[in-house]
Amino acid sequence: MSTPTPNKTWTKTAERPLRSAAKSLGVYLFAHFVGVAVPWRAVRQTDGKALLAYEHERLLALGAAGEHVPPVVAFDGDAMVTGDVGTTLEHLLHRIPDADRLPLMCAASADLAGFHARGHWHGGAQARNLTWNGHRFARIDFEERLYPGLPLETVQRYDALQLVFSLARFLEPLGPLAVQDVLNAYRDAWLLAKPDAPESQSLRSFLKPLLPRLRRIDRLASWSSRLDGSRELIRLRTVLEGMTSFVEDSPR
Ligand SMILES: Nc1ncnc2c1ncn2[C@@H]1O[C@H](COP(=O)(O)OP(=O)(O)O)[C@@H](O)[C@H]1O
Ligand SMILES: [Mg+2]
Repeated sequence: MSTPTPNKTWTKTAERPLRSAAKSLGVYLFAHFVGVAVPWRAVRQTDGKALLAYEHERLLALGAAGEHVPPVVAFDGDAMVTGDVGTTLEHLLHRIPDADRLPLMCAASADLAGFHARGHWHGGAQARNLTWNGHRFARIDFEERLYPGLPLETVQRYDALQLVFSLARFLEPLGPLAVQDVLNAYRDAWLLAKPDAPESQSLRSFLKPLLPRLRRIDRLASWSSRLDGSRELIRLRTVLEGMTSFVEDSPR
């Protein structure tokens, strides 16, 4: 059986620059800073071929499970060619009218919850790794090996957190209620697909213990006149406020 070659393709090679030690440290610190104990060996990239082979395996498995991921057109160990699955959410959010942003962000969040409810995890669920082709979302970039080093529930909720943080620049002008909407969209889609899931697996249970830590960072940063009032801190505060309301108001 032969599948038709998609019109537009992307090539990822084993030789492309790997994440530097400094970048790995950044990823590691971000995870630990928000309270997710990712192992150092899961974030440090040293072998381009192994990474590509791993991503190839993940794409095949997710594709076989019926998930929306790029079709693998070719793979020879040194390069992988995948079919185009549309424009990244990040790219799109920059270009659409303000009023269309929140519904798209909520739809993306609900879509991630559905993906999780079907038993999968992404490991890089930021807006730059989610695409929209006008009909459906698809996920790209499966290099992170967070599972099985971390429990599935942790990795899934960390995905949700990464998505929300990656949307912070678009959420901040809309205020904390928009953050809450995006989190509610995740919770509702998760509960719709898994009505009997235990409360311990909920986004709320995951976020609750992270909030005091994030608040401490916020307080610490506000002592610095350089950081206080910075774009990053304003964004963090908006996300934090939205998360707090979500944790306090959410029934589960
Ligand atoms: N199959 C694909 N369909 C659409 N866009 C893609 C595809 N593969 C890669 N891209 C684009 O290339 C960028 C980088 O690819 P990605 O797999 O995320 O690699 P990296 O590990 O460098 O982040 C993506 O953010 C997206 O813009
Ligand atoms: Mg990427």
